[in-house]
Amino acid sequence: MPPLKICLVSSEVAPLAKTGGLADVVAALGAELVRRGHEVRVFMPLYRQLREAGRSLVPAPGMGNLSVSLGPRSGRISVFNTTIERTGLEVSCIDCPELYDREGIYTADEDEHLRFALLARASLTACQATSWAPDIVHCNDWHAGLLPLYLKLLSSWEDLFARTRTVLTIHNIGYQGMVSADAVHDLGLDDATHLLHQEDLAAGKINFLKIGLLYADAITTVSTTYAREIQTQELGMGLDGLLRERAASVIGIVNGVDYGEWSPENDELIPASYSSGDLSGKLENKRILLESLGLEPGDDVPVFGVVSRLVYQKGFELLFEPLSEMLSGRDVRVAVLGSGEQKYETAFADLERRFPGRMCFYRGYDNALAHLIEAGSDAFLMPSLYEPCGLNQMYSLRYGTIPIVRRTGGLADTVRLFDRHTGEGTGILFDEFDPEGVRWALTYALELWADRPAWERMQSNAMAEDFSWEQQTAAYEELYYQLQAAAPA
Ligand code: ADP
Ligand code: GLC
Repeated sequence: MPPLKICLVSSEVAPLAKTGGLADVVAALGAELVRRGHEVRVFMPLYRQLREAGRSLVPAPGMGNLSVSLGPRSGRISVFNTTIERTGLEVSCIDCPELYDREGIYTADEDEHLRFALLARASLTACQATSWAPDIVHCNDWHAGLLPLYLKLLSSWEDLFARTRTVLTIHNIGYQGMVSADAVHDLGLDDATHLLHQEDLAAGKINFLKIGLLYADAITTVSTTYAREIQTQELGMGLDGLLRERAASVIGIVNGVDYGEWSPENDELIPASYSSGDLSGKLENKRILLESLGLEPGDDVPVFGVVSRLVYQKGFELLFEPLSEMLSGRDVRVAVLGSGEQKYETAFADLERRFPGRMCFYRGYDNALAHLIEAGSDAFLMPSLYEPCGLNQMYSLRYGTIPIVRRTGGLADTVRLFDRHTGEGTGILFDEFDPEGVRWALTYALELWADRPAWERMQSNAMAEDFSWEQQTAAYEELYYQLQAAAPA
């Protein structure tokens, strides 16, 4: 098959700007597509933090001082390229200081929707300026939701995009980019109101993700189970009806793992490397983890880790009671890294106060500590209410750190319940969204911990799992080729 021209558009790309798994996924997919011979451009905003990090930003040829208009506003943007050292992936950063030179990646500012509408609009302008006709524009989450519509509008007078097909990947349907219908003008959609979602418009709303779902040629989400779940009222967050209408174009492709970054053999961020053949380094990491967090040592004591955004989706309210009971009754350690909603931060901080030396809550974002928790913990907790895919459970598998997860979304697709009788399985799954489910899972984990041969068997099964991007990229590639085959000649 001939190589494709693929344009990825995302609000996050790791390690340049990251709050969650989206960044990891776009960076790894982009790199793997390049490795497979495709011509790839990745567009993201040039956030202040990129400049402050002192990255080399090289003017992108033919993409300097471009005129872009968005509704009543018109101005000039430039694009700068930066290369991710480890993979060589080149990322094109859209420079528009008025919108992007701010604290943080996301803001609560009034014009947040314009920041990402511009990302979509300017990515297309940059393609036009260089006469680069992508075969596929792959949009990610609500931030790029308007792109398929902008492309449709442009295509009425611009031949360049005649064969361009769009893919929209839903990484998280919980974030839809909802704004007041008053924004129509600012978004440059005055002449296109008939193309917007009419019921939303009548209700005074514009929903970026929904518009993306209306106009993208294909819709993907990041696991097969989540692809089914979002078509139900329970987890569709209001978009299930539309997704059911487009069911034939909705597919689930489970995320991959970048084992170049997340694997205990070659992880440069952990003190001791190890492999399934020799786990002595894991114990070393455990000792260092406990010491660095001020937790009491204990080689034989199980360590439970958490690394997460502390938000509703992640299901932490289930955890507090059972964790507190376990910390009171059993000799265990708990290491939590994360930040987010106040109530979860407070609850974890309370546990730390009540169980000094056994439980540590490190509030914040720290990539090196995230790696150390993966490497140094014995088990990893993800009680998610919903989970489009989840990466940490897959990282945990590779680090021999047993994932304890709720059976939902990508967690259900990537972790297999360990069965003591057959010796099959890679982790612990519970079904019900209630503390009882977590209690059962923790009890089972402690039972298995006490039965070393069973634990070691489960650990070795876990470490043998392979979720490499090589496999998952092939699934995207196949979709891209199918879309191209259906494009007009
Ligand atoms: P989500 O994208 O919903 O946050 P994922 O499991 O897909 O969930 O991805 C989360 C990613 O963000 C992982 O790479 C994880 O290590 C990282 N991460 C989350 N919170 C933190 C944190 N506080 N510090 C460092 N890394 C974090
Ligand atoms: C989202 C989801 C997470 C997924 C990630 C990358 O933020 O919450 O489950 O792994 O995107 O696709």
